[in-house]
Amino acid sequence: MNWKNAGENRFFGWFRALGTEIVLSLVGLRYCFSCRFLCFELQRRLIYLFCSPWAISRRFLDQQGQSSDVQDAQGYGETPLITLNAVARRLRLSEKDALLELGSGTGRNCAWLSDRYGCRTCGIEQIPQYVYFAEKMVKRHFSDGQVSLICGDMFALDMSDWHFVYVDCTAMSEPCIGQVAFLCAGLPNGAKLVTVNASMSEWMPERFQIETVFPGLFIWGWSEIRIHRVGPPDESAET
Ligand SMILES: C[S@@+](CC[C@H](N)C(=O)[O-])C[C@H]1O[C@@H](n2cnc3c(N)ncnc32)[C@H](O)[C@@H]1O
Repeated sequence: MNWKNAGENRFFGWFRALGTEIVLSLVGLRYCFSCRFLCFELQRRLIYLFCSPWAISRRFLDQQGQSSDVQDAQGYGETPLITLNAVARRLRLSEKDALLELGSGTGRNCAWLSDRYGCRTCGIEQIPQYVYFAEKMVKRHFSDGQVSLICGDMFALDMSDWHFVYVDCTAMSEPCIGQVAFLCAGLPNGAKLVTVNASMSEWMPERFQIETVFPGLFIWGWSEIRIHRVGPPDESAET
């Protein structure tokens, strides 16, 4: 189940989401390994205490003139650290790697992955407010240049240099997921593309080969996470 097809009672859904959020935040404490990330996360929580990322996203889409249907589809959501850790372990991320996050939200995933796995991370996000605060927090807590953030449209990116890409497609409309597939087709052969709630091989079987599918826990319940290998089918069969 995900928020696209939940169809549950709104009142019950709100309490379920709150309960899940509390449990995931408590479990997430386990992953706040370092003092550096803990400071980042506390500052982030403080900043968004009075104006939630969900509200900011809604206001941004409102200003863009998006209808409420589109707002529901293109809204905000966060990957819990327990789920992000499962992704990073399967990718075997190390200090030599660099990962791009498409739609990096408040920048927490990039900060955590760099802190925990030592890899370089770059996040691109369309909402200026998220990037403004994330850049300030990164400057303060991650001064080693390992984390960078770009404010802009992911669809304008050149993908040819990235070997690890993470994108949560849960809040995206179907045409938008198609655009992501088109964008990521520009990744080099052998690159790993991780998607939440989207199968890129269904859009472009000639370009994306599914390596692993596993369930990931999110605030709205379990969602399917897919690790795709970029390249033609025969190439993945050889390895
Ligand atoms: C579901 S949230 C995911 C946040 C984060 N990646 C995570 O998993 O915790 C999706 C984010 O993608 C951003 N986004 C959507 N379309 C975008 C675009 N075309 N360019 C850049 N960011 C975009 C949204 O503003 C939102 O912050």
